[in-house]
Amino acid sequence: MSFDKKSVVYQIYPKSYKDTTGNGVGDLQGIKEKLPYLAELGIDIIWLNPFYPSPQRDNGYDISNYTAVNPLFGTMTDFEELVSTAKLYGIELMLDMVLNHCSTEHEWFQKALAGNSYYQDFFILRDKPTDWLSKFGGNAWAPFGHTGKYYLHLFDVTQADLNWRNPNVREELFKVVNFWRDKGVKHFRFDVVNLIGKDETLVDCPINDGKPAYTDRPITHEYLRELNEASFGQDSNSMTVGEMSSTTIDNCVKYSNPNRRELSMVFNFHHLKVDYDKGQKWTLKAFDFDSLKTLFHTWGEAMSEGGGWSALFWNNHDQPRALNRFVDVKNFRNEGATMLAASIHLSRGTPYVYMGEEIGMLDPDFTSMSDYVDIESLNAYKGLVDSGKSEQEAFAIIKAKSRDNSRTPMQWDDSAYAGFSNAKPWLAVGKTYKEINVTAEKSGKIFPFYQKLIALRKNYPIISEGDYKAAYQDSKQVYAFERQLAGQKLLVLNNFSADKAEIALPEVYTKGQVLLSNYENTNLDEKLLLNPYQTLAILI
Ligand code: GLC
Repeated sequence: MSFDKKSVVYQIYPKSYKDTTGNGVGDLQGIKEKLPYLAELGIDIIWLNPFYPSPQRDNGYDISNYTAVNPLFGTMTDFEELVSTAKLYGIELMLDMVLNHCSTEHEWFQKALAGNSYYQDFFILRDKPTDWLSKFGGNAWAPFGHTGKYYLHLFDVTQADLNWRNPNVREELFKVVNFWRDKGVKHFRFDVVNLIGKDETLVDCPINDGKPAYTDRPITHEYLRELNEASFGQDSNSMTVGEMSSTTIDNCVKYSNPNRRELSMVFNFHHLKVDYDKGQKWTLKAFDFDSLKTLFHTWGEAMSEGGGWSALFWNNHDQPRALNRFVDVKNFRNEGATMLAASIHLSRGTPYVYMGEEIGMLDPDFTSMSDYVDIESLNAYKGLVDSGKSEQEAFAIIKAKSRDNSRTPMQWDDSAYAGFSNAKPWLAVGKTYKEINVTAEKSGKIFPFYQKLIALRKNYPIISEGDYKAAYQDSKQVYAFERQLAGQKLLVLNNFSADKAEIALPEVYTKGQVLLSNYENTNLDEKLLLNPYQTLAILI
């Protein structure tokens, strides 16, 4: 049996969920404490960002030991308790596997540096660097000790890429996944997994910082099949998701089509680049609705036709809050948050909710660079200033784009530090916590809407299984699609603008049933008028 398409995943950034020890950092016990809340929301699986030992240069994506718990977050016993308690609530865990690279503090790298040739072959060492750029700035190669060689780091200089061409490396990494399977974990998220397969000969590539030279290389598919067979593929309803950096539809169909036995589904990020100016992240630009709509349609239809499967999401720990990017939050926070939610929960794929999204959390509105801790943001700020931007201009860009925007503590209530901790948190709490918090939102508009969406998915196979077809492709305001299953049809209309939008509704739909809307009393007229940020799902 394959994974359950009725499932909804909830992502938790452990550092920022709930602190039970009073050190300002969230922990595993904190997550356990909040299980009743998550059960009330109705989610099925919790994806946990890395909580393994790590120097935290990249907040845990620089792992120094794959099979232990960082004392910052608790103990292995805490983890085991989390798994068993979650089970009582019908919730399972999905763990983050960062297998493209490890921290330079990992013993493999340390042994390699000390001259051990067995471990040197765990890394990608070359006599001469290529011209590739690191995703966190600068050249992607750094001197390997005093050997005269260079090691590859596609991310921070402390995140050394692992050499998957070496079968010993693959075996060690498969053991890591199996270690966690033995702890009762069935679901996994694989970090930047379309970058694991590097060619034997690495060549300069002036296009797009060198990305085409190491992204989606054909051998990646082989490695994924091997990984599947050696680990999670042995669990009947395991759910796996690959984070695909700068990927293509063709590759994503391959990664996720069940016949190929690679992964259950893929994250792609194209829809979250529609507010990049000329493809560059560290710029300011209003989002381009036309590109967003076209991307959703192209991917939705191609994945549907090719039998692939997408992970659907607006937010994660690497993205500023979608509400700040796609919605006039000053005037339409509730409408915008619910519309964004419906636009993916009713689409074809598995929805992911990022902590705080279900209560409409916003970017924190930091006022100084000293509030930011993320390595990528700090490097980008420096890069922007070095390239001639004024400090104010650079700050405005960081404020809009920083990953810290989504990493601020979960807002539980209006007490000090938003009920996250009784000590000063590792990253400051967002300015809005007095109004936007779980206690207030439970009886607000957004949380109950998420509950409803999650419940609908359980009861309507057309939502969890139906095909995807683009609708109203020429609309300048409305992103719409039609789902189909066994003679049933569901039309989902999402007004992405702060103005009313007129839609010509086909006659059959005027007699349909309103399955969901974020406004009351919508008449299904042939000349349908959608309210600002209205979402409307009609079943026939
Ligand atoms: C992924 C993670 C991100 C991390 C990077 C390197 O993109 O989501 O947080 O910095 O990989 O591991």
